Amino acid sequence: MTIRSVVIGSGHYLPEKCLTNADMTKLVDTSDEWIVERTGIRQRHIAAEHETTSYLATKAAEAALDSGGIDPATIDLIVLATATPDYTFPSTATQVQAALGITGGAAFDVQAVCSGFVYAVATADNFIKAGSAKRVLVIGAETFSRILDWTDRATCVLFGDGAGAIVLEAQSGDGSNADRGVLSTHLRSDGRYRDKLYVDGGPSSSMTTGHLRMEGKEVFRHAVANLAETVEESLRRSGLRADEINWFVPHQANRRIIDATAKKLGIDPSRVVITVDLHGNTSAASIPLALSVARQDRRIETGNLVLIEAMGGGFTWGSALIRW
Ligand code: UT7
Repeated sequence: MTIRSVVIGSGHYLPEKCLTNADMTKLVDTSDEWIVERTGIRQRHIAAEHETTSYLATKAAEAALDSGGIDPATIDLIVLATATPDYTFPSTATQVQAALGITGGAAFDVQAVCSGFVYAVATADNFIKAGSAKRVLVIGAETFSRILDWTDRATCVLFGDGAGAIVLEAQSGDGSNADRGVLSTHLRSDGRYRDKLYVDGGPSSSMTTGHLRMEGKEVFRHAVANLAETVEESLRRSGLRADEINWFVPHQANRRIIDATAKKLGIDPSRVVITVDLHGNTSAASIPLALSVARQDRRIETGNLVLIEAMGGGFTWGSALIRW
């Protein structure tokens, strides 16, 4: 018998306020044509003042719990991926725990920027496999609008706010790829690339929050190579082929990166879930948002093989294969 982490709920939340590319042209010297052609983004949601990361995360978590008819009291671990916490401490996860009225178990944040959700899934899966948790709320939530330099057209048009969540439950499987649940996870990082994508502030370095800085071309170049590598590794170790994947749900940073990665891996475009056009890049929230959207519109069905992958600041990158 093998312990598997099976998805029993999913949900998401997007702030009401939405900025279109036309709205962005009023803020910086840009155009709808440039943004769509280079990134595929058409609009992004922006959190209102009261919509903190923990607020968005709590809404997404409530939706995920509702979708599976899950009693919050049965959650014994919350793993929340974010690079934009409400506070330096306490963690955003503990605030969500309190907002959901959960008083048992444990809650903590993981920080791997855009790869955060893949890191959070891997962490939750390992807690479950070790027998340390039975029902884990895994959340990706971000308010990147708060750390953008709104005068820098090269970055401010790219990002948005939002949150997504899944609930993983320990169930028994036979250890084969036919099992439902997380089949494999692969995490990587290489800290030598810190200055390609970073925030120029922090409690210990500058005592400020700082703003996002990015060498877009460099990140782009590494992204396609790293993502293809981690996915190939994931498939090789699991003994699965790309054509067995029902849904490819990549981190939604840039349509061109998604298309290039899918092409390199031989994944048919009709099996790729795209939300970057509507959400922009929501960092750790992008994958759970896309998963929840594709589950709600019935693209992802129970038993489907789903591949998630992401790359972000650090650099960090990773992938996971999940049978829904
Ligand atoms: O989620 C974390 C991972 N992040 C990513 O995956 C982002 C990866 N990088 C990218 O997606 C792309 O590199 C960008 C979308 C950020 C940029 O696209 P690019 O094709 O690499 O453009 P570029 O940075 O080389 O800029 C090309 C031109 C420049 O003008 P010059 O120097 O050629 O005259 C920029 O100044 O486009 C200009 N530009 C803009 N023009 C209109 C940069 N931003 C804008 C803008 N509107 N918003």
